[in-house]
Amino acid sequence: MLSLFRKKIRDREASSPVDALKVDMHSHILPGLDDGAETMEESLALVESLKKLGFRKLIATPHVMGDFYRNSPATVFSALKELREAVSQRGMDIQIEAAAEYYLDEWFMDRLRGDQPLLSFGSGPESARYLLFEISYINPTPQLAEAVFLMRSSGYRPVLAHPERYLYFYDDFFRLKELFENGVLFQVNINSLTGYYSKTAQLLAEKLIENRMVNFLGSDCHARRHAEVLARAQTQKYYRKALALDLLNNSLYV
Ligand SMILES: [Fe+2]
Repeated sequence: MLSLFRKKIRDREASSPVDALKVDMHSHILPGLDDGAETMEESLALVESLKKLGFRKLIATPHVMGDFYRNSPATVFSALKELREAVSQRGMDIQIEAAAEYYLDEWFMDRLRGDQPLLSFGSGPESARYLLFEISYINPTPQLAEAVFLMRSSGYRPVLAHPERYLYFYDDFFRLKELFENGVLFQVNINSLTGYYSKTAQLLAEKLIENRMVNFLGSDCHARRHAEVLARAQTQKYYRKALALDLLNNSLYV
């Protein structure tokens, strides 16, 4: 009986109308800053693809990693300015902003302990400053709790990029729950819903959606191949289920 009732609720959730996603808050579309778009032409092609998928605002989040990409507000905003100019020259109607995706390493910890502003996104009535960060794909990160504490005490709202891609959480779901309950927001990659990264990442993404532990969806678009998978991902059942959650993406559309 109970399972029948649950099934009815699930069916209703899957068929009810949902708001389309207007804002993508995770992408690597700025040219020449990381392993995303290399040239302005590639950047423009990605912007065009994302626009075709329905996005009206893109927040570019180039990697910041001590060992590889020491991007700063200066490098990021200079690339943003160039891309905006090129987009407007092409007559494309889409908003573009920029922040970053910080890898949790000693370089980031030093920045968190310092007093220079970090690259965050968010505005509007809440004036939230969302800070997107990623962690090791291979091993649990020992400084994670400290980093979350530092981000929050500096007034940022930490957003963990693609929690479903850290496969060591698969058998440790309670650790993800703990993080979520501790104020870390979760951003799931749209492409994870197709199994693009791995079956395990797909299952973990679905579990996060079932547990209503998703605050943002992001494209994490680096290249054309990602944009192609996104079109398929938008037809997935779990994509609709995710859209029915209280996602924050569209609150960024101002
Ligand atoms: Fe990313």
